Amino acid sequence: MLIRRLPPHERSSYADHLKRLSPEDRHLRFARAGVSDEWIDAHVAAISEDGLILVGVLRERVIAAAHLALDDDNAVAEVGLSVDIEHRSGGLGRELLNQAVVFARNRRAGKLYTLCLSDNRGMVALARRAGMAVEFSQGEAEAHLPLPPPDPLTVSQEMSTGLFAVFHDWAELFDRYGALVNAAVPGMRAKE
Ligand SMILES: CC(C)(COP(=O)(O)OP(=O)(O)OC[C@H]1O[C@@H](n2cnc3c(N)ncnc32)[C@H](O)[C@@H]1OP(=O)(O)O)[C@@H](O)C(=O)NCCC(=O)NCCS
Repeated sequence: MLIRRLPPHERSSYADHLKRLSPEDRHLRFARAGVSDEWIDAHVAAISEDGLILVGVLRERVIAAAHLALDDDNAVAEVGLSVDIEHRSGGLGRELLNQAVVFARNRRAGKLYTLCLSDNRGMVALARRAGMAVEFSQGEAEAHLPLPPPDPLTVSQEMSTGLFAVFHDWAELFDRYGALVNAAVPGMRAKE
């Protein structure tokens, strides 16, 4: 499993991941009822080119995501998380939240913020585990985490995520190319 930043031309795979969420999970993810496929398409299309979407990828499929939205002066980074149902409770949500903190710090955001429904036990547990202060009000829970400035470790963490993604993509390309050569030239093994 690889966690990496999703480039703009792959946004449809993020939309597909969100559309696999059940109606209940869509409600939990966006803290609003009646989230349709069309609403998801419009939501994803509205994310700017430089928007930050971190994804967990397994066999070329987005199985988990964190959308990090920075406000105009980069003071607050709001994060929304989602994990495909069959991949939950394995630490993916926590790992994505940790990566979101790294990316937010590197953009000098002063605070990480998330909003969820107050009965979203998974997200509240996750936020508390990440050290966020959680406040409940009128059926909603708001979580805040003050962020220190970036340091060499956060910068190298973000860089290594990018480098690892490049090597992963290369390995996949090489595998695919090898399979094509093997199919085209029986008896020849591309990797040898
Ligand atoms: C919330 C969500 C992202 C968690 O993803 P996940 O991959 O299952 O989370 P993790 O496996 O990293 O779990 C992190 C912690 O939360 C706890 N947790 C997860 N789901 C829980 C639940 N339903 N009730 C109580 N605790 C829960 C885990 O036990 C774990 O604690 P631990 O570190 O002490 O073991 C996932 O359930 C999801 O996509 N929900 C639907 C969308 C949503 O609610 N998004 C959040 C709003 S932005």
